[in-house]
Amino acid sequence: MNAILFAYMPYVLLMTAIVGTIYRYTTNRFSWSSQSSQFLENRALFFGSFPWHYGIVLVLLGHIIGLLTPSSILAWNSAPLRLYILEVSGLALGLLALFGLLALAYRRLTNNRVKAMTTSWDVLLLIILLIQVATGIGNAILYRWGSNWYAATAVPWMWSVLTLNPNVEYVANLPLITKAHIFNAMLFIGLIPFTRLVHVFVINIYKYLWRPYQVVRWYHRDSQTENIIQYK
Ligand code: HEM
Repeated sequence: MNAILFAYMPYVLLMTAIVGTIYRYTTNRFSWSSQSSQFLENRALFFGSFPWHYGIVLVLLGHIIGLLTPSSILAWNSAPLRLYILEVSGLALGLLALFGLLALAYRRLTNNRVKAMTTSWDVLLLIILLIQVATGIGNAILYRWGSNWYAATAVPWMWSVLTLNPNVEYVANLPLITKAHIFNAMLFIGLIPFTRLVHVFVINIYKYLWRPYQVVRWYHRDSQTENIIQYK
């Protein structure tokens, strides 16, 4: 079972992501968007989107730094105070992301205008993200000092997969919730081409972190009066 989940499935899902993303880009380039629903509803979006994006981008940055330079994380963690600072910051950012995600899910499922524009893919994506963030927080709370054991277990496993020599022994004995977190991350990657997640590949997205919150406007010509109507 471990071999299927952590030696074969990573490649199946990675290939799905790569081939699917290239296919969508070449066949349906204009669908390459987060399909903003800001003009449908703005207030709840702000309270969800802001904490979600700040929280998750910084958490993922931590994951990436750990993947690229595990020794620097272990060196940082060698002083207990620095370990506590890193772990508490990671957990706080995870909770911030969870708060934002729950607000976004609530908005998408309760606001009738947003709900009307919500596809099954959006719902599936929300479920996958909720599982991802909840299992991440579960790991951080239940199995202390994850930034240390991440560097010694998940990181060498990820490198073994990336160098096409998968070694499941690194992850085979991890707790169930950790395995769920890792496998769900792969499902998340496999889902990218089918959902609005493709927007993360639009480079300008990174300006969103510091530019003022923008207002999206749609224009529509009234067929009877010929007047231009603005929605925002
Ligand atoms: C879609 C990708 C992922 C997302 C959105 C995500 C999200 C999160 C979140 C929100 C947390 C809790 C906050 C924290 O403690 O940092 C977390 C923790 C954690 N994640 Fe992930 N994660 C992802 C992928 C992965 C992968 C691929 C691995 C390992 C192969 C992994 C391993 C861990 C570990 C070990 C922790 C506990 C860290 C600690 O206690 O300090 N994550 N993740």
